This record gives sequence, C-alpha cells and structure tokens, in this order.
Amino acid sequence: MQIITSITSMRSLAGSLRQEGKRIGFVPTMGFLHEGHLSLMRAARQENDIVVASIFVNPAQFGPKEDLARYPRDAEGDRKKCESVGVDIIFTPSAEEMYPEKPGVFVTVEGLSDILEGAIRPAHFRGVATVVAKLFHIVQPHRAYFGRKDYQQCAVIKRMTKGLDLDVEVEVLPTMRESDGLAMSSRNSYLDAAQRKKAACLFRALTAAEELVWSGVREPERVKQRMRAVIAQEEGVEIDYVEAADADDLSPLATIKGSIVLLVAVRIGATRLIDNLLVV
Ligand code: PAJ
Repeated sequence: MQIITSITSMRSLAGSLRQEGKRIGFVPTMGFLHEGHLSLMRAARQENDIVVASIFVNPAQFGPKEDLARYPRDAEGDRKKCESVGVDIIFTPSAEEMYPEKPGVFVTVEGLSDILEGAIRPAHFRGVATVVAKLFHIVQPHRAYFGRKDYQQCAVIKRMTKGLDLDVEVEVLPTMRESDGLAMSSRNSYLDAAQRKKAACLFRALTAAEELVWSGVREPERVKQRMRAVIAQEEGVEIDYVEAADADDLSPLATIKGSIVLLVAVRIGATRLIDNLLVV
C-alpha cells in the first residue's frame, strides 16, 4: 500500500494507471475510519483494479464554530484498516497542499445546498462539493463510493457530477449501524456512555416513522410528529430538524407517495448527529 501526500504525485500515478487500462475505484473520507468507511472500500475492492482512499479533514466544509480543530484523527489506525481491506493507495494531502491560498474558487450546487443540513450549516455543501470536485480531478477515478448515511451529501455530489459532466460513476451504499441501530460515525466518539445510549433514539424515531408510512399514513406532519415524539422521550436530545422528503430532490412532501426519505438531525450536548431512512 502506497501513501501519497502530494497532488502532483497522485495525479501522475492515476494518469499512468489509467493509461495501463486499470479501473480506479475511489473512497473519499475524513479518516478516523469505521465499518461504514470500510464497507465502501470493500465494495471498491471488489469492483475495481485499483482502490484509492483519501483521508483529508477538509477545512472548507466546517463552519467557524464547528469541530474542525477537535475532529478525531488516527493516522496509524486508519493506515492499518485501509491495508486490511486491500486499499492500494491512500491519498492524504495537508490542508496547505489542497488549499495553498485561501480558497477563492468554489463549486456550488444551488438549491440542494441550502435546505436541511445546508440551512443549519451554511457553506458546508459548498465545501464538500469543492473538495470532492478537486479530489475527482486529482485521483481520476472511474467510480467513487459514498455512504447513504449522508443522504443529502450524496444528492449534492450526484448533481455536481452530472452538472459538471464529470466522467465518474457515483455509487451510494447502505448505512452501516451499531447493534442498537445507531449509524456509525466518526463523531460518535464524542459521546459519553449516557449520551451514546440516548443516541439510539434517532434510529428508533426513523423506524417508528417508517412503520407509520407502511401502515398507510400519508400525512407528512403525522410522520414527523411520530419522530419528534420518539426523540422527546430522551432528555437532552435537541432536534435540529425532522423531515419527510422526496427521495430524489429532497423537496418537502405535501403528501407521502413514491420513494421518500425520512431525515433527522439532533444535538446531544455539543455533538451533532444525523441519520435517515429510505422508504421505497
Ligand atoms: P466522512 O464523514 O469521513 O465519510 C466518508 C464516507 O463514508 C462518506 O461517503 C460517508 O457517507 C460514508 N459513511 C460515513 N458513515 C457511514 C456509515 N455508517 N455507513 C456507510 N457509509 C458511511 O463524508 C465525508 O467524510 C466528507 O464530507 C467527504 C465526502 C470525504 C468530503 O470531505
């Protein structure tokens, strides 16, 4: 396994691999890897000749009051995990390498970036779209892998890829969960034992809402109310939003029909958690 920190080296290696006819699979991450990340890498391993994983905590997607400075890091652990699932190349540039100047060039996916997560985290999706576009240009993958855990991020990246005519297939894979249903996330490491227990209410809320939909309820407000009620049972879990949205463009629904996605975002102490469930 090779570890590359320079853009020039990564770009020229990717160029030669493509010339040799190798298919490149790419998994972008911010590190502190868990089974969610590894599931993407395993899929990439199965479907491509070369697997590149990036580890880069992207300053451009964090707000000024967010957790950039304390975002968890474990370079050595990440290296071992990547090796164990057959990653060929880790691309791990410094912030100075990726943004030698204060970023003045951005990729913006309008509309999708301003709702839900984007309404609470302004400039977040601009930072995500910008770094993923840069990474696609540097790593030159045939296929890139993302987790449904970050549903809106997947929608933004798909629309960005299409809108810029990037020649990359975007694949979205299911959310990996702990045994109580909590979606795996690097940010779960911020939770103390009591908070960790409370955090399972996100998945409980989503599955309770899903049951309502299956039972034939068509009013989004009733479904959202069920999610709020389940979360309200846990003291100290503050809701940022609950939503029932169209699965394709994330627009809010007047009535529940077709493929929908249930989304939830909460704060537990200083930790923000998001989760979602696709109901098709
Ligand atoms: P990060 O949070 O490290 O996640 C990297 C990838 O792993 C994303 O595609 C994310 O959706 C996926 N992932 C996270 N938790 C998962 C889970 N429980 N199950 C399945 N997949 C999961 O998302 C980012 O980094 C960044 O925004 C990035 C795309 C790298 C751009 O900086």
